[in-house]
Amino acid sequence: MSVIATPQSLPPARIAPSILSADFACLGEEVRNVLAAGADWIHFDVMDNHFVPNLTIGPMVCEAIRPHVGQAPIDVHLMVEPVDALVPMFAKAGASLISFHPEASRHVDRTLSLIRDHGCQAGLVFNPATPLDWMDHVMDKLDLVLLMSVNPGFGGQKFLPSTLPKLRAVRQRIDQWIQQGGQPIALEVDGGVKADNIAEIRAAGADTFVAGSAIFGQSDYAASISAMRAEILKADSLQA
Ligand code: DX5
Ligand code: ZN
Repeated sequence: MSVIATPQSLPPARIAPSILSADFACLGEEVRNVLAAGADWIHFDVMDNHFVPNLTIGPMVCEAIRPHVGQAPIDVHLMVEPVDALVPMFAKAGASLISFHPEASRHVDRTLSLIRDHGCQAGLVFNPATPLDWMDHVMDKLDLVLLMSVNPGFGGQKFLPSTLPKLRAVRQRIDQWIQQGGQPIALEVDGGVKADNIAEIRAAGADTFVAGSAIFGQSDYAASISAMRAEILKADSLQA
């Protein structure tokens, strides 16, 4: 009997709307609405006008939305340099996962440990041109790998197709790691993800999908999320 749904090799898919494209004048309502529409995680983009050329939100805003998010994880994506001082602040503000760019930390191993020591899950973020070698010696300290499919700094950019072979390479590394007895590591993709390209991104091995403009730029959040899930299911049934 053939198996339907998700192929054994891929973990269930999660949708993580980026509030970068939400209405900042009513963020609490926006996160409640998008979770009610079927989102799994809230993706929280932190930009410092130094590591990236834009300025967004910090721990105070994370703390303010926490009561509106219920049990859902807040996935904090730090695009800041330096990183370490913000880790305890975001942990206190209710972050569930904290990920950072390795170029922005002098001591990547130490920053990963710092995140876990504060009770959060730890992630490394790879810019389009950042080599995967940064993962080599810290696999045991990773809960998440986040591949940027645009250069970070702005919502609404176009998905870079060079992300697809890179995703396949990370999927292979994670699968090998788990086969050797390692802990699970989520594989997230961020930038230009939409219902039109999410199937090929899933097929390349992603399990967590950040989408900002493709969800908050539409009036019906539930319809946008359902369209994405339907495309993911199509990709999974082709692989099964
Ligand atoms: C870009 C951010 C993304 C961004 C994605 O630097 O990290 O999370 O909000 O937005 P879309 O989905 O519009 O590309
Ligand atoms: Zn992001």
